[in-house]
Amino acid sequence: MSGRHLVLVGLMGAGKSTVARLCAPRLGRPLVDTDELAVTLAGRGFDDLWADGEAEFRRWERAAVADAAASTAASVIACGGGAVVDPDNRRALRGHGVVVWLRARPDTLAARVGDGAGRPLLAGDPLTALRRLARLREPAYEAAAHHTVDVDDLTIELVCERVLEIVRADDASRDLHEAQP
Ligand code: S3P
Repeated sequence: MSGRHLVLVGLMGAGKSTVARLCAPRLGRPLVDTDELAVTLAGRGFDDLWADGEAEFRRWERAAVADAAASTAASVIACGGGAVVDPDNRRALRGHGVVVWLRARPDTLAARVGDGAGRPLLAGDPLTALRRLARLREPAYEAAAHHTVDVDDLTIELVCERVLEIVRADDASRDLHEAQP
């Protein structure tokens, strides 16, 4: 079978959603954003979920990841930055897709997220929060990812091209593997 999901992971500001939006039409695949799907499944707004605490958000995020990973339509999945901290989420995503870590330095991320509006974990001092999250989450991103793209010095367009090369190589290697007796 060729055409597993393309899964984009990485910290807030890495460009996952933007790259997913660019890549999905080029691959002819539907786009799934786990933040948006979590909100849809919960039937509640993003801020409303967070108002009940991070655990409530993560509960719905887990449901969204399970749903997206299980879809039989090969999709482009943009994961919320914390999704792959959960080992079950990592397993589901790795098992059903090629996982690409968009890796960036905290200063790059901080420049992109500005004052962190709309991102509860960045409230106050985004750079300090991103440095801390980068330290804490690096092992999870490493464990989740089949491939890593360092995005600091790349335009979004170039990141998209790198990601598409990864997907094509993955599809080709799987086709070859399956053609062997
Ligand atoms: C989070 C990242 C956010 C969103 C939530 C928590 C995180 O998604 O899921 O605010 O824990 O890193 P983006 O990475 O798409 O901003």
